Amino acid sequence: MLKGLLFDLDGVLTDSAKYHLQAWGELAKKLNITLPESANDELRGRSRLDSLNVILKFGNQQYYSEQQKKEFMDTKNRIYLHLIRAMTPQDILPGITDLLADAQGAGLRMAIASASRNAPIILNQLGIADLFAGVVDPATLIHGKPDPEIYERAQQLLHLRATEVTAFEDAVVGVQAIKGAGQFAVGIGNKHVLRQADYVVPTTGDLRLSDIIANFDSRNN
Ligand code: G6P
Ligand code: MG
Repeated sequence: MLKGLLFDLDGVLTDSAKYHLQAWGELAKKLNITLPESANDELRGRSRLDSLNVILKFGNQQYYSEQQKKEFMDTKNRIYLHLIRAMTPQDILPGITDLLADAQGAGLRMAIASASRNAPIILNQLGIADLFAGVVDPATLIHGKPDPEIYERAQQLLHLRATEVTAFEDAVVGVQAIKGAGQFAVGIGNKHVLRQADYVVPTTGDLRLSDIIANFDSRNN
């Protein structure tokens, strides 16, 4: 039986993925690196360091020291914090407010499984921080997505089993992490890109708790 929902944040609850991409784009420009079209899908869901390494690889610039990489990540984060400072509850993606309210009404427990260290800031700005019983602190993780660690941790925060939760992702590496944790994966985006997900909707506006429960039940029975 479904007892809990685990949410990625960027690109699922709000469109902050576009700000991550914009901030990385600005850093890439400083480094004279042109990001390919595929950058959007490749960066989605990846930790700060993993994202930087992907960008440096695009530019064949994998020779920087740890200290230089830290400075690049700090620069990107300053740009990102500037971009997200004006976020408000208006920035919650379509369908999400209803989904969270329906889940709360149905007694489902909810947690956040975002790789972003900025997740608590954004949840506060969106005015939805109180809805979540747990937020995984990515600073305590050993491995980033696609490793299942973050989803296993989120499930533990809710004291639930893998077969009792559904997790929501917009990133390929995120769906891989959910499946690695043995959980039911709802993908939001292109079904050919997110083909490992158990159930895919094109946009958050297409999410309905009743449909999700029906699909979850048919997979778990
Ligand atoms: C999320 C986003 C990624 C981002 C990562 C780290 O997973 O999807 O694009 O790189 O979090 O975010 P942070 O805010 O800690 O740099
Ligand atoms: Mg995401």
